[in-house]
Amino acid sequence: MFGRRSAIEIKSRTELDVMRQAGLVVARALSAIGLAAKPGVTTGQLDSIARDVLSDHGATSSFLGYKAHGAVPYPGVICASVNDEVVHGIPGDRILHDGDLLSVDFGAIIDGWNGDAAITIEVGDVAPELRELSRVTRESLWAGLAQARVGAHLTDISHAIETTIVSAGADYGIVEEYGGHGIGSRMHMDPHILNYGSPGRGPVLRAGMALAIEPMVVLGSPDVGVQADAWTVSTLDGGRAAHWEHTVAITDEGPWILTALDDVHL
Ligand code: MF3
Ligand code: CO
Repeated sequence: MFGRRSAIEIKSRTELDVMRQAGLVVARALSAIGLAAKPGVTTGQLDSIARDVLSDHGATSSFLGYKAHGAVPYPGVICASVNDEVVHGIPGDRILHDGDLLSVDFGAIIDGWNGDAAITIEVGDVAPELRELSRVTRESLWAGLAQARVGAHLTDISHAIETTIVSAGADYGIVEEYGGHGIGSRMHMDPHILNYGSPGRGPVLRAGMALAIEPMVVLGSPDVGVQADAWTVSTLDGGRAAHWEHTVAITDEGPWILTALDDVHL
């Protein structure tokens, strides 16, 4: 890193405008899924909703066919992770039940440019401590997004996320094996973004960079493992998890949330 120019992709304003179009497709799909995710609905039905939104907008999926670990191409357009599943849950016949905490992650491509976001949905009546888990996770995401400014260091984001979670109480664990990422002409690009750490380290942020920031927070131990399906990441102790994500562009006018439904500039 020292002395080396960062290899983080810089987007032109025109390219960011296309990323915003991809981000809006993501926002619309997640909004529709948030309304549809009721007890009795399957995660596969939510995947179908996202497929319809993609085709309505002439967009393609960032996730379908994605090969992260070599052999097994990802089979869905969304990730649907229920309860102790943290991320990368495969959509299918699983029926949602009252009280489930469901994270849905979705990525879309327009003209080669990616948007990536995730929301945590309360299915029916959810226990207060799980609603609080999701609220704290979302708050940590926004604390991180607020640091996505020209001249900041990458780990200012990491530190803001960690500080928000740690100050919310001792019940929360931050998952360390997964984190955020650069995004643009590919979904996963440099840099990797830890959801914890000291501030003031890593590359300096510049206008035209885009980052996907995605804290994953659990009740209990943050230790996770990958299921036999080669994708689903679950907590080892069965603790419930929450996951929120946005794609943000760094601009001279401040952070621009590319995957928000409204036009949000921080
Ligand atoms: N937002 C998730 C991530 O960045 C999406 C990856 S799912 C995959 O890890 F299927 F595309 F791998
Ligand atoms: Co992501």
